[in-house]
Amino acid sequence: MKIYAINGSPRKGWNDAQMLDSFKKGVLSLIPDADYQEVFLYDLNYKGCRSCFGCKLLSLSEPRCAIKDDIYELLHELRHCDGFVFASPIYFSDASAELKAFFERLMYPGPVIKEIPIHAIYTMNAKKDKFDSVFLPSLSTTHKALEHNFKTKLNMTCAYYTFQRNNEHLYKPSSHSKPEDKLAYHNLHWENDLQNAYIDGVHFAEKLLQIRK
Ligand SMILES: Cc1cc2nc3c(=O)[nH]c(=O)nc-3n(C[C@H](O)[C@H](O)[C@H](O)COP(=O)(O)O)c2cc1C
Repeated sequence: MKIYAINGSPRKGWNDAQMLDSFKKGVLSLIPDADYQEVFLYDLNYKGCRSCFGCKLLSLSEPRCAIKDDIYELLHELRHCDGFVFASPIYFSDASAELKAFFERLMYPGPVIKEIPIHAIYTMNAKKDKFDSVFLPSLSTTHKALEHNFKTKLNMTCAYYTFQRNNEHLYKPSSHSKPEDKLAYHNLHWENDLQNAYIDGVHFAEKLLQIRK
């Protein structure tokens, strides 16, 4: 079983990375021999779609992005894998620019042939009500395109009001939140957020096993 985990956060080891790590543990608890590939997008050299239409040429045996850079093989692999998870911090009410550029290249070639299950992880400074009312509508076009292209239903795990930085005294105070409130919230909720990611990883693995049996 080939599974990809795509990290669309620029920060290694921070919120998205930890959520992805818990999700991975959940997946591997059910499919220990999975070929689980982790990708850190910010390590790769690429840009978004250039509208060259190279992926639409009639001469191609199957649709494939034509730009030969660091994500050329990965994009192809994702169209043939058993499932993938991606994670992104919310930046200005949307996914990170790197992830959005990646999705342009992933989806412009058009839909895949068989269902490929996808899971999304989002972490953000805001709380759930803001995610539901503002960020989710903003993400919905991308979500619909993913569901259409990969013939699947996208499920999500979110972590809200995330802990953003150490050594708070070195920085200008945030207009959104007090550091002591954030730390208290983090201490109360973070283990639970990670546990949710773990459980959703288990559910994702169940879905993969059911689809690929
Ligand atoms: C450029 C930038 C824009 C951001 N925009 C938002 C936003 O619109 N809404 C929000 O809730 N959090 C926003 N955040 C906060 C991040 O989404 C949040 O801290 C996230 O958990 C960081 O993930 P990471 O630790 O994996 O980097 C922003 C952070 C940055 C750096």
